Amino acid sequence: MSVITINSEKCKKDGICVAECPLGIIGQTDSEHIPELLPGTDEMCISCGHCVAVCPHGALSHNKMAPEDCPPVKKDLLLSPEQVEYFIRSRRSIRVYKEQGVDKNILLKLIELAMYAPSGHNSQAVDWRIVYDRDEVQRYTGMVIDWMRYMIEKKSPFVEQLHLDMIVKTWESGKDTISRNAPHLVIVHGAKADVTAVDACIIAMTYFEFAAPSFGLGGCWGGFFNTAINAWKPLKEALGIPEGHNANGMMMVGYPEFKYHRLPLRNDPRVEIL
Ligand SMILES: Cc1cc2nc3c(=O)[nH]c(=O)nc-3n(C[C@H](O)[C@H](O)[C@H](O)COP(=O)(O)O)c2cc1C
Repeated sequence: MSVITINSEKCKKDGICVAECPLGIIGQTDSEHIPELLPGTDEMCISCGHCVAVCPHGALSHNKMAPEDCPPVKKDLLLSPEQVEYFIRSRRSIRVYKEQGVDKNILLKLIELAMYAPSGHNSQAVDWRIVYDRDEVQRYTGMVIDWMRYMIEKKSPFVEQLHLDMIVKTWESGKDTISRNAPHLVIVHGAKADVTAVDACIIAMTYFEFAAPSFGLGGCWGGFFNTAINAWKPLKEALGIPEGHNANGMMMVGYPEFKYHRLPLRNDPRVEIL
């Protein structure tokens, strides 16, 4: 059975699905004929759903998504430029969290939303791990410190560049500047062999971070933690990240302790128009 089915009664032969298909695998002889999947191209379909989403007549069904399964676009819910600017500029990296933990279902909902992020070939090559338990957060963070101690011992040039000795000293004084005492950690990882995985993971985690404030939550990327996962085998194994995978992002998450009253400034963009 073809990956797409076109209802001949609903189809207006307008060729929109043909123009829209990113792989160019929907063809149409002329405006008298109903479009169809080009022979032998089923395997090429990336299941992006554009053909279903773009058909104004609900005439095209994909075997992974019928038009009835795909919610209609509600114009009144689209954000205005002003709302988008505010949304983007008001996101902050949160480094001080309330004690209160987050309902697991909220974290799962954020992950579900993050899966709508773009990915090369619609690969969605993103695997997620949630470190939910606060004691486990601290245990794994202690392993990041083990890696830093190892780096200090072998006099790695990164020690000075990344101030690793200071971070270790701060940890020893009882302060966590790695995971910031966040109640939970979320990690994205993907297959090393998949060329789409790094970008897919980073963009998905960015979506996760953007979605978090709508639930009153905030996050912060854990660059040290993420680097340590890939560099320090005991940590990677303890987290259960498969051998052929790399961690491509870690996000602390919890309820922010403080509110922000101003939108801080950033550099002007360096742009050359060619
Ligand atoms: C890939 C990446 C790694 C980061 N790693 C850390 C980290 O390990 N610890 C930390 O406190 N902040 C980390 N940050 C947060 C940045 O410091 C922060 O985004 C920047 O200071 C701008 O502040 P804002 O996010 O509130 O706009 C990281 C950010 C990114 C994108």
